[in-house]
Amino acid sequence: MVTTTSLKTTKSDEIFAAAQNLMPGGVNSPVRAFKSVGGQPIVFDHVKGSHIWDVDGNEYIDYVGTWGPAICGHANDEVNAALMEALQKGTSFGAPCYLENVLAEKVIAAVPSIEMVRFVNSGTEACMSVLRVMRAFTKREKVIKFEGCYHGHAGMFLVKAGSGVATLGLPDSPGVPKSTTAATLTAPYNDLEAVKTLFEQNPGEIAGVILEPIVGNSGFVTPDAGFLEGLREITQDDGALLVFDEVMTGFRIAYGGVQEKLGVTPDLTTLGKIIGGGLPVGAYGGRREIMEMIAPAGPVYQAGTLSGNPLAMTAGIKTLEILSRPGAYEQLEEKTNKLITGLLEIARENGHAVCGGNISAMFGLFFTEGPVHNYDDAKQSDLAKFSRFHRGMLEQGVYLAPSQFEAGFTSLAHTDDDIANTLAAARTVLSAL
Ligand SMILES: Cc1ncc(COP(=O)(O)O)c(C=O)c1O
Repeated sequence: MVTTTSLKTTKSDEIFAAAQNLMPGGVNSPVRAFKSVGGQPIVFDHVKGSHIWDVDGNEYIDYVGTWGPAICGHANDEVNAALMEALQKGTSFGAPCYLENVLAEKVIAAVPSIEMVRFVNSGTEACMSVLRVMRAFTKREKVIKFEGCYHGHAGMFLVKAGSGVATLGLPDSPGVPKSTTAATLTAPYNDLEAVKTLFEQNPGEIAGVILEPIVGNSGFVTPDAGFLEGLREITQDDGALLVFDEVMTGFRIAYGGVQEKLGVTPDLTTLGKIIGGGLPVGAYGGRREIMEMIAPAGPVYQAGTLSGNPLAMTAGIKTLEILSRPGAYEQLEEKTNKLITGLLEIARENGHAVCGGNISAMFGLFFTEGPVHNYDDAKQSDLAKFSRFHRGMLEQGVYLAPSQFEAGFTSLAHTDDDIANTLAAARTVLSAL
């Protein structure tokens, strides 16, 4: 049971004040700041299972899960033990290592579109690399992305890029030359007609379409029936590639990602987060003939000093092994559904307009009647109310992502008590909003 009743954050505040003089905004990734919800970020001391503890000793039930990787629970004993053992052999070889084969085999066996994979160090790297391959393979330059989808912070994707950028109120980023985004076309999510129009307006010029097949960076938004199938058909007909960015959804929505769950197979896929089990990893993969264009098999250059390092591979392998055990995804679905159904019910009982849902271990709630089909719909949410909700939940010992435009994550470590305590906290907060 979480016992936090009033939040004392003296040490957190001191550390964060000092951090602001040392690092831009006091953080190393903007989404960690509490810019959109107000107040100061909480400085963590340690994490275990579904809980986190801050430097002042406050304990929280966590629904951020280090932004996705912690699906087996934080500091999982089995992952930790595997890492301790791997550490004895060294942290980085800069040469081939058997563990790369093991993780590659697991990823290829799990994800329908992936026949070959390349490991990198982050989701950003995976997405910027996949774009190069898309362009090289099709000999075309233009790419379509969707408003409110985030594909990492590489310049060509920083157009209508969802959560982090939206939360800070930046339409784009200074420092990205116009020429870098000139070939990036955008369409509203779930709008097949807009995509068809872009293909008509740019005949033979579009290398492909990249999207979050279930969106987490506009809040939690699902594809309408037929949307993914429609994209598959349009791209195939035009000789363009379809790319699913499953950095967030891979091994979360199902073991084989959204593509397994919804039965639409893209040409290429990007991964990250869970496949590194909490260590820095990204990956991209797809059809063999496309992947064999990458150096040294082919001419498309992409490299990385720490790519495929034994520690990250070990954490990924053990995490996937745990997830592949019978019942893992049933358990994730059941707990997450109980959580979001409860939250929506309590909000409605207290007179709040809300909508939301979950698939497997990913969920979201908007303070608007909805439905939310795209980023513009998501922006109809009452952001001031979300901020008060976020603060209230924090004070009740529940750590939610500090932005309305982020999805929530559960893990195998979340217990029935965690869910019950979260709902009790929500009852207190939502009745007083
Ligand atoms: C869908 C998606 N793609 C790419 C990225 C970038 O990954 P990273 O933060 O590891 O660079 C993220 C990060 O949240 C993401 O959610």
